[in-house]
Amino acid sequence: MVTDMFDLSGRVAVVTGGSRGIGRAIALGLADAGATVVPTARSADDVQETVDRIEDAGGEGLAETVDVADVESVESLFDRVGEELGGADVVVNNAGINPGNALGTPDRVDPEGFDTVMDVNLRGAFLCARAATEHLQKDGGSVVNVASVGGLVGLPRQHPYVASKHGLVGITKSLALDWAPDVRVNCLAPGYVATDLTEDLTSDDDLRAAILRQTPLDRFADPEEIAGPAVFLASDAASYVTGSVLTADGGWTAR
Ligand SMILES: NC(=O)c1ccc[n+]([C@@H]2O[C@H](COP(=O)([O-])OP(=O)(O)OC[C@H]3O[C@@H](n4cnc5c(N)ncnc54)[C@H](OP(=O)(O)O)[C@@H]3O)[C@@H](O)[C@H]2O)c1
Repeated sequence: MVTDMFDLSGRVAVVTGGSRGIGRAIALGLADAGATVVPTARSADDVQETVDRIEDAGGEGLAETVDVADVESVESLFDRVGEELGGADVVVNNAGINPGNALGTPDRVDPEGFDTVMDVNLRGAFLCARAATEHLQKDGGSVVNVASVGGLVGLPRQHPYVASKHGLVGITKSLALDWAPDVRVNCLAPGYVATDLTEDLTSDDDLRAAILRQTPLDRFADPEEIAGPAVFLASDAASYVTGSVLTADGGWTAR
């Protein structure tokens, strides 16, 4: 049955940035598909809330903290996942930021802001994949890197973010080559999703209208609408999909 191919029972899935927004929705989606999910972020309370929601829905989860920009923190996370759950079969690299000091025309971008965005969005994803190597190669795992439409096209005044997401698309392809045929590695590229990250866009009438004019589906996505594509890429339903980028952008990049 095709629907059985989406079943993640018996798999362990680590989701970075699983404490709110898209990451929490993906964590809940993976748990709904049967995985034991480890949502992670820097805030322990917020990841525990994700686990509470997973358990309320009848699933299994384990709350863990990590700072993906810190190599020791990342390695210690995957050590704990190995000890407590036997390792990760799925890694969703979703943690991401786009802070004010990295936004603006090039002359206004703070060099430290540039580094911070790269450290979290790009280096952090690489560190997680690297730390999970043995886990993923044990039984044939899957990595889902949450990039953005900003990983496919340029966005004005978001230079570090766009650089980090283009880099993530590139690393996805290189990892897919190095780890084939055992481990699949793919990218998910959401368009505009209503979360804390885009609050400045959804709350500004002019910005919101400008984005909607470019979005054929004429709305921001709910975070839950990104969970389905993530479950697909993580699961055997995508068994012949690797090194790819799946857009979930309401048609934004179709223009
Ligand atoms: N929202 C959109 O429209 C959109 C569109 C395209 C792509 N994306 C991408 O989707 C991903 C999630 O975005 P979102 O909108 O859901 O953002 P969000 O609501 O701001 O959530 C970001 C998540 O990342 C975690 N995080 C941030 N820095 C971290 C660090 N150093 N170490 C570990 N975790 C960290 C946050 O938790 P803590 O702060 O507690 O660590 C939080 O769980 C990002 O990669 C983003 O670039 C979003």
